[in-house]
Amino acid sequence: MALKITVIGTGYLGATHAAAMAELGFEVLGLDVVPEKIEMLQRGEVPMYEPGLEELLAKHVAGIEGSSGRLRFTMDWAEVAEFGDVHFVCVNTPQKHGEYACDMSYVDAAFASLAPHLTGPALVVGKSTVPVGSAERLGRTLVGLAPAGEDVELAWNPEFLREGLAVQDTLHPDRIVAGVRSERAEKLLREVYATPLAEGTPFVVTDFPTAELVKTAANSFLATKISFINAMAEVCEAAGGDVVKLAEAIGYDDRIGKKFLRAGIGFGGGCLPKDIRAFMARAGELGADQALTFLREIDSINMRRRGQMVEMTREALGGGSFLGKRIAVLGATFKPDSDDVRDSPALNVAGQIHLQGGQVTVYDPKGMDNARRLFPTLAYAETAAEAVRGAHAVLHLTEWSEFRELDPAALGEAVTDRVVLDGRNALDPAVWRAAGWTYRAMGRPAA
Ligand code: UDX
Repeated sequence: MALKITVIGTGYLGATHAAAMAELGFEVLGLDVVPEKIEMLQRGEVPMYEPGLEELLAKHVAGIEGSSGRLRFTMDWAEVAEFGDVHFVCVNTPQKHGEYACDMSYVDAAFASLAPHLTGPALVVGKSTVPVGSAERLGRTLVGLAPAGEDVELAWNPEFLREGLAVQDTLHPDRIVAGVRSERAEKLLREVYATPLAEGTPFVVTDFPTAELVKTAANSFLATKISFINAMAEVCEAAGGDVVKLAEAIGYDDRIGKKFLRAGIGFGGGCLPKDIRAFMARAGELGADQALTFLREIDSINMRRRGQMVEMTREALGGGSFLGKRIAVLGATFKPDSDDVRDSPALNVAGQIHLQGGQVTVYDPKGMDNARRLFPTLAYAETAAEAVRGAHAVLHLTEWSEFRELDPAALGEAVTDRVVLDGRNALDPAVWRAAGWTYRAMGRPAA
Protein backbone atom coordinates (compact mmCIF):
# COMPACT_ATOMS: atom_id res chain seq x y z
CA MET A 1 0.00 0.00 0.00
CA ALA A 2 1.28 3.47 -0.90
CA LEU A 3 2.65 5.60 1.90
CA LYS A 4 0.54 8.41 3.28
CA ILE A 5 2.33 11.66 3.96
CA THR A 6 1.61 14.57 6.26
CA VAL A 7 3.31 17.96 6.19
CA ILE A 8 3.33 20.11 9.32
CA GLY A 9 3.72 23.85 8.68
CA THR A 10 2.61 25.40 5.38
CA GLY A 11 5.08 28.23 4.75
CA TYR A 12 7.37 28.40 1.70
CA LEU A 13 8.87 25.06 2.65
CA GLY A 14 5.80 23.13 3.86
CA ALA A 15 3.25 24.29 1.27
CA THR A 16 5.68 23.48 -1.53
CA HIS A 17 6.66 20.14 -0.03
CA ALA A 18 3.00 19.12 0.43
CA ALA A 19 2.13 20.00 -3.17
CA ALA A 20 5.26 18.27 -4.47
CA MET A 21 4.46 15.08 -2.53
CA ALA A 22 0.97 15.06 -4.07
CA GLU A 23 2.57 15.58 -7.49
CA LEU A 24 4.76 12.52 -6.83
CA GLY A 25 1.54 10.51 -6.34
CA PHE A 26 1.13 10.35 -2.54
CA GLU A 27 -2.00 11.06 -0.52
CA VAL A 28 -1.02 14.14 1.50
CA LEU A 29 -2.50 15.93 4.52
CA GLY A 30 -1.05 19.33 5.41
CA LEU A 31 -1.42 20.96 8.82
CA ASP A 32 -1.02 24.52 10.02
CA VAL A 33 -2.06 26.24 13.23
CA VAL A 34 -3.12 29.45 11.42
CA PRO A 35 -6.79 29.06 10.33
CA GLU A 36 -6.56 31.72 7.56
CA LYS A 37 -3.72 29.81 5.89
CA ILE A 38 -5.65 26.55 5.97
CA GLU A 39 -8.75 28.22 4.52
CA MET A 40 -6.70 29.71 1.67
CA LEU A 41 -4.89 26.46 0.91
CA GLN A 42 -8.18 24.53 0.90
CA ARG A 43 -9.32 26.89 -1.86
CA GLY A 44 -6.04 26.26 -3.71
CA GLU A 45 -4.73 29.76 -2.92
CA VAL A 46 -1.12 30.31 -1.88
CA PRO A 47 -0.54 32.49 1.20
CA MET A 48 2.65 33.89 -0.43
CA TYR A 49 4.01 34.47 -3.94
CA GLU A 50 5.89 31.45 -5.19
CA PRO A 51 5.98 30.84 -8.96
CA GLY A 52 4.28 27.61 -10.03
CA LEU A 53 2.89 26.74 -6.60
CA GLU A 54 -0.66 27.87 -7.23
CA GLU A 55 -0.80 25.75 -10.40
CA LEU A 56 0.50 22.72 -8.48
CA LEU A 57 -2.08 23.20 -5.71
CA ALA A 58 -4.86 23.54 -8.29
CA LYS A 59 -3.74 20.20 -9.73
CA HIS A 60 -4.04 18.35 -6.43
CA VAL A 61 -6.14 20.06 -3.72
CA ALA A 62 -9.29 18.05 -3.00
CA GLY A 63 -12.49 19.83 -3.97
CA ILE A 64 -10.97 21.79 -6.85
CA GLU A 65 -12.54 20.82 -10.16
CA GLY A 66 -10.35 18.50 -12.16
CA SER A 67 -7.81 18.01 -9.35
CA SER A 68 -6.33 14.67 -8.30
CA GLY A 69 -7.84 15.23 -4.84
CA ARG A 70 -4.66 13.85 -3.27
CA LEU A 71 -3.93 16.94 -1.14
CA ARG A 72 -6.00 18.10 1.85
CA PHE A 73 -5.40 20.45 4.76
CA THR A 74 -6.43 20.39 8.40
CA MET A 75 -5.74 21.92 11.81
CA ASP A 76 -6.39 18.68 13.66
CA TRP A 77 -3.30 16.97 15.11
CA ALA A 78 -5.13 13.72 15.88
CA GLU A 79 -6.28 13.49 12.25
CA VAL A 80 -2.71 14.06 11.05
CA ALA A 81 -1.31 11.38 13.39
CA GLU A 82 -4.00 8.92 12.34
CA PHE A 83 -3.51 9.62 8.61
CA GLY A 84 0.21 9.56 8.06
CA ASP A 85 2.94 6.94 7.79
CA VAL A 86 5.55 9.66 7.32
CA HIS A 87 5.22 13.11 8.92
CA PHE A 88 7.37 15.97 7.62
CA VAL A 89 7.96 18.81 10.08
CA CYS A 90 8.43 22.00 8.04
CA VAL A 91 7.82 24.80 10.55
CA ASN A 92 10.13 27.81 10.61
CA THR A 93 12.98 28.57 12.96
CA PRO A 94 13.40 32.37 12.95
CA GLN A 95 16.14 34.31 14.72
CA LYS A 96 15.36 34.94 18.39
CA HIS A 97 14.57 38.56 19.11
CA GLY A 98 17.75 40.37 20.14
CA GLU A 99 19.88 37.21 20.01
CA TYR A 100 21.88 35.27 17.44
CA ALA A 101 20.35 31.91 18.40
CA CYS A 102 17.40 30.51 16.51
CA ASP A 103 13.94 30.23 18.01
CA MET A 104 13.02 26.56 18.31
CA SER A 105 9.59 27.17 19.81
CA TYR A 106 7.62 26.28 16.64
CA VAL A 107 9.56 23.04 16.17
CA ASP A 108 9.20 22.11 19.83
CA ALA A 109 5.48 22.89 19.73
CA ALA A 110 5.01 20.76 16.60
CA PHE A 111 6.67 17.74 18.20
CA ALA A 112 4.79 18.25 21.48
CA SER A 113 1.45 18.48 19.62
CA LEU A 114 1.97 15.54 17.28
CA ALA A 115 3.71 12.96 19.49
CA PRO A 116 0.88 12.26 22.00
CA HIS A 117 -1.38 11.21 19.11
CA LEU A 118 1.06 8.71 17.59
CA THR A 119 -0.43 5.39 18.65
CA GLY A 120 1.09 3.29 15.86
CA PRO A 121 4.34 3.01 13.88
CA ALA A 122 5.38 6.25 12.16
CA LEU A 123 8.40 8.06 10.82
CA VAL A 124 8.69 11.73 11.75
CA VAL A 125 11.04 13.62 9.44
CA GLY A 126 12.51 16.96 10.46
CA LYS A 127 13.05 19.39 7.58
CA SER A 128 13.33 22.67 9.47
CA THR A 129 16.78 24.26 9.75
CA VAL A 130 17.83 23.63 13.35
CA PRO A 131 20.92 23.95 15.55
CA VAL A 132 23.05 20.80 15.46
CA GLY A 133 22.04 18.49 18.32
CA SER A 134 18.31 19.26 18.03
CA ALA A 135 17.46 15.99 16.28
CA GLU A 136 19.02 13.95 19.07
CA ARG A 137 16.91 15.83 21.64
CA LEU A 138 13.71 15.76 19.54
CA GLY A 139 14.09 12.03 18.90
CA ARG A 140 14.01 11.45 22.66
CA THR A 141 10.99 13.76 23.08
CA LEU A 142 9.15 11.82 20.40
CA VAL A 143 9.70 8.39 21.88
CA GLY A 144 8.93 9.74 25.36
CA LEU A 145 5.60 11.35 24.40
CA ALA A 146 4.28 8.94 21.75
CA PRO A 147 2.02 6.13 23.02
CA ALA A 148 3.64 3.92 20.35
CA GLY A 149 7.06 4.51 22.00
CA GLU A 150 9.95 3.01 20.06
CA ASP A 151 7.70 2.32 17.05
CA VAL A 152 7.89 6.01 16.33
CA GLU A 153 11.19 7.09 14.84
CA LEU A 154 12.85 10.31 13.80
CA ALA A 155 14.87 11.11 10.65
CA TRP A 156 16.48 14.40 9.63
CA ASN A 157 16.15 15.44 6.02
CA PRO A 158 17.22 19.07 5.44
CA GLU A 159 15.72 21.04 2.58
CA PHE A 160 17.75 23.23 0.24
CA LEU A 161 15.03 24.96 -1.76
CA ARG A 162 15.41 28.57 -2.85
CA GLU A 163 12.47 30.93 -2.67
CA GLY A 164 11.26 31.82 -6.13
CA LEU A 165 12.41 28.40 -7.34
CA ALA A 166 10.82 26.34 -4.57
CA VAL A 167 8.69 24.10 -6.81
CA GLN A 168 11.51 23.29 -9.19
CA ASP A 169 14.00 22.72 -6.34
CA THR A 170 11.58 20.42 -4.48
CA LEU A 171 10.63 18.31 -7.50
CA HIS A 172 14.19 18.18 -8.84
CA PRO A 173 16.54 18.45 -5.86
CA ASP A 174 20.29 18.35 -6.54
CA ARG A 175 20.76 16.00 -3.58
CA ILE A 176 18.76 14.34 -0.82
CA VAL A 177 20.34 14.17 2.62
CA ALA A 178 18.96 11.58 5.02
CA GLY A 179 20.02 11.61 8.66
CA VAL A 180 18.80 8.23 9.87
CA ARG A 181 19.33 5.77 12.69
CA SER A 182 17.82 2.62 11.24
CA GLU A 183 17.41 0.72 8.00
CA ARG A 184 13.66 1.12 8.32
CA ALA A 185 13.93 4.92 8.36
CA GLU A 186 16.28 4.87 5.36
CA LYS A 187 13.97 2.53 3.46
CA LEU A 188 10.94 4.74 4.10
CA LEU A 189 12.78 7.88 2.95
CA ARG A 190 14.01 6.09 -0.18
CA GLU A 191 10.39 5.12 -0.88
CA VAL A 192 9.20 8.73 -0.48
CA TYR A 193 11.92 10.03 -2.79
CA ALA A 194 11.84 7.10 -5.23
CA THR A 195 11.04 9.37 -8.20
CA PRO A 196 13.94 11.83 -7.79
CA LEU A 197 16.23 8.89 -6.90
CA ALA A 198 15.21 7.14 -10.11
CA GLU A 199 16.24 10.31 -11.92
CA GLY A 200 19.73 9.93 -10.47
CA THR A 201 19.57 12.41 -7.60
CA PRO A 202 22.39 11.62 -5.11
CA PHE A 203 21.13 10.24 -1.78
CA VAL A 204 23.51 10.92 1.08
CA VAL A 205 22.90 8.86 4.21
CA THR A 206 24.35 10.32 7.42
CA ASP A 207 23.95 10.47 11.16
CA PHE A 208 21.78 13.15 12.79
CA PRO A 209 24.45 15.81 13.51
CA THR A 210 25.88 15.61 9.99
CA ALA A 211 22.44 15.96 8.41
CA GLU A 212 21.74 19.06 10.50
CA LEU A 213 25.18 20.49 9.74
CA VAL A 214 24.95 19.95 5.97
CA LYS A 215 22.24 22.59 5.83
CA THR A 216 24.00 25.22 7.94
CA ALA A 217 27.34 24.51 6.28
CA ALA A 218 25.80 24.94 2.80
CA ASN A 219 24.16 28.24 3.73
CA SER A 220 27.37 29.46 5.40
CA PHE A 221 29.33 28.67 2.26
CA LEU A 222 26.83 30.54 0.07
CA ALA A 223 26.89 33.54 2.42
CA THR A 224 30.68 33.44 2.36
CA LYS A 225 30.77 33.52 -1.44
CA ILE A 226 28.52 36.58 -1.54
CA SER A 227 30.45 38.44 1.16
CA PHE A 228 33.73 37.50 -0.50
CA ILE A 229 32.71 39.15 -3.75
CA ASN A 230 31.29 42.11 -1.85
CA ALA A 231 34.63 42.49 -0.04
CA MET A 232 36.29 42.49 -3.47
CA ALA A 233 33.76 45.14 -4.53
CA GLU A 234 34.90 47.34 -1.64
CA VAL A 235 38.50 46.97 -2.77
CA CYS A 236 37.50 47.66 -6.40
CA GLU A 237 35.73 50.83 -5.27
CA ALA A 238 38.90 51.97 -3.46
CA ALA A 239 41.25 50.98 -6.30
CA GLY A 240 39.11 51.86 -9.30
CA GLY A 241 38.55 48.26 -10.43
CA ASP A 242 35.44 46.56 -11.80
CA VAL A 243 34.06 43.77 -9.61
CA VAL A 244 31.74 42.47 -12.34
CA LYS A 245 34.71 41.80 -14.64
CA LEU A 246 36.67 40.42 -11.70
CA ALA A 247 33.86 37.97 -10.81
CA GLU A 248 33.60 36.88 -14.44
CA ALA A 249 37.34 36.30 -14.69
CA ILE A 250 37.75 34.34 -11.44
CA GLY A 251 34.55 32.40 -12.20
CA TYR A 252 36.13 30.75 -15.26
CA ASP A 253 38.17 28.73 -12.77
CA ASP A 254 35.96 25.66 -12.17
CA ARG A 255 37.17 25.43 -8.61
CA ILE A 256 35.63 28.84 -7.95
CA GLY A 257 32.65 28.78 -10.34
CA LYS A 258 30.51 31.66 -11.58
CA LYS A 259 27.48 31.29 -9.33
CA PHE A 260 26.79 33.36 -6.23
CA LEU A 261 29.42 35.94 -7.13
CA ARG A 262 27.08 38.82 -7.90
CA ALA A 263 28.26 41.84 -5.94
CA GLY A 264 25.78 44.38 -4.65
CA ILE A 265 23.87 45.26 -1.50
CA GLY A 266 24.25 41.73 -0.17
CA PHE A 267 22.14 38.86 1.06
CA GLY A 268 18.92 38.99 3.05
CA GLY A 269 15.80 36.89 3.50
CA GLY A 270 14.59 34.44 6.08
CA CYS A 271 17.53 32.02 5.73
CA LEU A 272 21.12 33.08 5.10
CA PRO A 273 21.39 35.94 7.67
CA LYS A 274 19.70 34.10 10.53
CA ASP A 275 21.28 30.74 9.70
CA ILE A 276 24.86 32.00 9.92
CA ARG A 277 24.06 33.76 13.21
CA ALA A 278 22.37 30.69 14.70
CA PHE A 279 25.35 28.59 13.56
CA MET A 280 27.76 30.89 15.42
CA ALA A 281 25.58 30.81 18.53
CA ARG A 282 25.43 27.00 18.48
CA ALA A 283 29.17 26.66 17.87
CA GLY A 284 29.67 28.86 20.93
CA GLU A 285 27.53 26.55 23.04
CA LEU A 286 29.60 23.60 21.79
CA GLY A 287 32.89 25.35 22.64
CA ALA A 288 33.76 25.56 18.93
CA ASP A 289 33.14 29.29 18.46
CA GLN A 290 36.66 29.90 17.17
CA ALA A 291 35.93 27.73 14.14
CA LEU A 292 33.21 30.14 13.01
CA THR A 293 34.57 33.57 13.91
CA PHE A 294 34.95 34.19 10.16
CA LEU A 295 31.15 34.13 9.87
CA ARG A 296 31.02 37.24 12.05
CA GLU A 297 33.09 38.97 9.36
CA ILE A 298 30.83 37.55 6.60
CA ASP A 299 27.85 39.03 8.43
CA SER A 300 29.47 42.43 8.93
CA ILE A 301 30.69 42.72 5.31
CA ASN A 302 27.10 41.96 4.31
CA MET A 303 25.47 44.47 6.66
CA ARG A 304 28.04 47.14 5.71
CA ARG A 305 26.92 47.02 2.06
CA ARG A 306 23.57 48.53 2.95
CA GLY A 307 25.16 51.60 4.54
CA GLN A 308 27.58 51.86 1.61
CA MET A 309 24.63 51.97 -0.78
CA VAL A 310 23.16 54.84 1.23
CA GLU A 311 26.50 56.71 1.06
CA MET A 312 26.86 56.06 -2.67
CA THR A 313 23.40 57.58 -3.13
CA ARG A 314 24.33 60.62 -1.03
CA GLU A 315 27.48 61.11 -3.07
CA ALA A 316 25.61 60.78 -6.37
CA LEU A 317 23.24 63.50 -5.18
CA GLY A 318 26.16 65.84 -4.58
CA GLY A 319 26.84 65.02 -0.92
CA GLY A 320 25.24 66.42 2.24
CA SER A 321 21.71 65.92 3.43
CA PHE A 322 18.91 63.95 1.78
CA LEU A 323 16.42 66.67 2.75
CA GLY A 324 14.40 67.80 -0.25
CA LYS A 325 15.68 64.90 -2.39
CA ARG A 326 13.26 62.52 -4.07
CA ILE A 327 14.55 58.96 -4.26
CA ALA A 328 12.83 56.21 -6.26
CA VAL A 329 13.51 52.70 -4.98
CA LEU A 330 12.91 49.86 -7.43
CA GLY A 331 12.57 46.62 -5.49
CA ALA A 332 11.52 45.81 -1.94
CA THR A 333 11.85 42.04 -1.66
CA PHE A 334 15.11 40.36 -0.62
CA LYS A 335 15.36 38.74 -4.06
CA PRO A 336 13.30 38.69 -7.27
CA ASP A 337 10.41 36.23 -7.90
CA SER A 338 9.40 36.32 -4.26
CA ASP A 339 7.16 38.54 -2.14
CA ASP A 340 9.37 37.98 0.91
CA VAL A 341 10.69 41.15 2.56
CA ARG A 342 12.25 39.52 5.61
CA ASP A 343 15.63 41.16 6.29
CA SER A 344 15.48 42.71 2.82
CA PRO A 345 18.57 44.79 1.96
CA ALA A 346 16.41 46.87 -0.42
CA LEU A 347 13.93 47.92 2.25
CA ASN A 348 16.74 48.52 4.71
CA VAL A 349 18.41 50.98 2.32
CA ALA A 350 15.05 52.64 1.58
CA GLY A 351 14.35 52.93 5.31
CA GLN A 352 17.78 54.42 6.10
CA ILE A 353 17.42 57.15 3.43
CA HIS A 354 13.86 57.88 4.59
CA LEU A 355 15.03 58.22 8.21
CA GLN A 356 17.69 60.66 7.05
CA GLY A 357 15.07 62.93 5.50
CA GLY A 358 14.94 61.69 1.88
CA GLN A 359 11.53 61.46 0.16
CA VAL A 360 11.56 57.78 -0.74
CA THR A 361 9.01 56.12 -3.03
CA VAL A 362 9.17 52.33 -3.34
CA TYR A 363 7.83 50.06 -6.05
CA ASP A 364 8.06 46.27 -6.17
CA PRO A 365 6.22 43.88 -8.53
CA LYS A 366 5.09 41.43 -5.80
CA GLY A 367 6.31 42.63 -2.41
CA MET A 368 4.22 45.78 -1.88
CA ASP A 369 1.75 44.38 0.67
CA ASN A 370 4.46 42.86 2.82
CA ALA A 371 6.62 45.99 2.50
CA ARG A 372 3.73 48.25 3.52
CA ARG A 373 3.14 46.11 6.60
CA LEU A 374 6.83 46.22 7.61
CA PHE A 375 7.58 49.86 6.69
CA PRO A 376 4.25 51.70 6.78
CA THR A 377 5.91 55.13 6.84
CA LEU A 378 7.51 54.79 3.38
CA ALA A 379 5.67 56.03 0.29
CA TYR A 380 4.67 53.40 -2.27
CA ALA A 381 3.87 53.62 -5.98
CA GLU A 382 1.81 51.23 -8.10
CA THR A 383 4.27 51.15 -11.02
CA ALA A 384 7.96 51.79 -11.66
CA ALA A 385 7.02 54.76 -13.87
CA GLU A 386 5.03 56.30 -11.01
CA ALA A 387 7.83 55.69 -8.50
CA VAL A 388 10.45 57.52 -10.55
CA ARG A 389 8.32 60.61 -11.24
CA GLY A 390 10.30 63.70 -10.21
CA ALA A 391 13.14 61.60 -8.73
CA HIS A 392 16.62 63.02 -8.19
CA ALA A 393 17.98 59.47 -8.11
CA VAL A 394 16.64 56.01 -9.01
CA LEU A 395 17.91 53.09 -6.89
CA HIS A 396 17.73 49.60 -8.39
CA LEU A 397 17.79 47.33 -5.32
CA THR A 398 16.08 44.03 -6.30
CA GLU A 399 16.82 42.60 -9.73
CA TRP A 400 13.32 41.80 -11.02
CA SER A 401 13.32 41.12 -14.77
CA GLU A 402 10.70 43.89 -15.07
CA PHE A 403 13.38 46.43 -14.14
CA ARG A 404 15.89 45.12 -16.67
CA GLU A 405 13.24 45.60 -19.35
CA LEU A 406 12.56 49.25 -18.45
CA ASP A 407 13.21 51.75 -21.22
CA PRO A 408 15.71 54.25 -19.77
CA ALA A 409 14.89 56.83 -22.45
CA ALA A 410 11.17 56.86 -21.59
CA LEU A 411 11.89 56.79 -17.86
CA GLY A 412 14.29 59.71 -18.28
CA GLU A 413 11.37 61.93 -19.35
CA ALA A 414 9.74 61.54 -15.93
CA VAL A 415 12.66 62.12 -13.56
CA THR A 416 14.18 65.37 -12.31
CA ASP A 417 17.76 64.07 -12.67
CA ARG A 418 18.88 61.10 -14.74
CA VAL A 419 20.84 59.38 -11.97
CA VAL A 420 20.57 55.62 -11.52
CA LEU A 421 22.36 53.56 -8.86
CA ASP A 422 22.45 49.83 -9.47
CA GLY A 423 22.62 48.00 -6.13
CA ARG A 424 22.50 44.59 -7.86
CA ASN A 425 24.77 45.02 -10.87
CA ALA A 426 21.97 43.77 -13.04
CA LEU A 427 21.20 46.70 -15.38
CA ASP A 428 23.18 47.30 -18.55
CA PRO A 429 25.36 50.39 -17.95
CA ALA A 430 25.84 51.00 -21.69
CA VAL A 431 22.10 51.18 -22.36
CA TRP A 432 21.43 53.56 -19.45
CA ARG A 433 24.40 55.79 -20.25
CA ALA A 434 23.39 55.94 -23.92
CA ALA A 435 20.00 57.29 -22.77
CA GLY A 436 21.74 60.11 -20.93
CA TRP A 437 21.78 58.65 -17.43
CA THR A 438 24.59 58.87 -14.91
CA TYR A 439 24.96 55.17 -14.03
CA ARG A 440 26.70 54.13 -10.82
CA ALA A 441 27.00 50.59 -9.49
CA MET A 442 28.53 48.93 -6.48
CA GLY A 443 32.13 47.89 -7.04
CA ARG A 444 32.43 49.48 -10.49
CA PRO A 445 34.15 52.61 -11.74
CA ALA A 446 32.01 55.76 -12.01
CA ALA A 447 32.21 55.96 -15.81
C1 UDX B 1 18.90 30.22 0.52
C2 UDX B 1 19.70 29.02 -0.06
O1 UDX B 1 20.14 29.33 -1.38
C3 UDX B 1 18.83 27.78 -0.06
O2 UDX B 1 19.57 26.66 -0.52
C4 UDX B 1 18.32 27.51 1.35
O3 UDX B 1 17.46 26.40 1.36
C5 UDX B 1 17.60 28.72 1.90
O4 UDX B 1 18.45 29.88 1.82
P1 UDX B 1 17.03 31.86 -0.46
O5 UDX B 1 17.07 32.55 0.88
O6 UDX B 1 15.73 31.55 -1.09
O7 UDX B 1 17.82 30.46 -0.37
O8 UDX B 1 17.81 32.80 -1.48
P2 UDX B 1 19.16 32.79 -2.33
O9 UDX B 1 18.83 32.61 -3.74
O10 UDX B 1 20.15 31.90 -1.73
O11 UDX B 1 19.61 34.32 -2.12
C6 UDX B 1 19.89 34.81 -0.81
C7 UDX B 1 20.29 36.26 -0.86
O12 UDX B 1 21.59 36.40 -1.44
C8 UDX B 1 19.37 37.18 -1.68
O13 UDX B 1 19.16 38.37 -0.95
C9 UDX B 1 20.16 37.44 -2.95
O14 UDX B 1 19.84 38.68 -3.52
C10 UDX B 1 21.59 37.42 -2.43
N1 UDX B 1 22.58 37.09 -3.44
C11 UDX B 1 22.58 35.87 -4.06
C12 UDX B 1 23.60 38.01 -3.77
O15 UDX B 1 23.64 39.12 -3.20
N2 UDX B 1 24.55 37.68 -4.70
C13 UDX B 1 24.54 36.48 -5.31
O16 UDX B 1 25.46 36.25 -6.13
C14 UDX B 1 23.54 35.54 -4.99
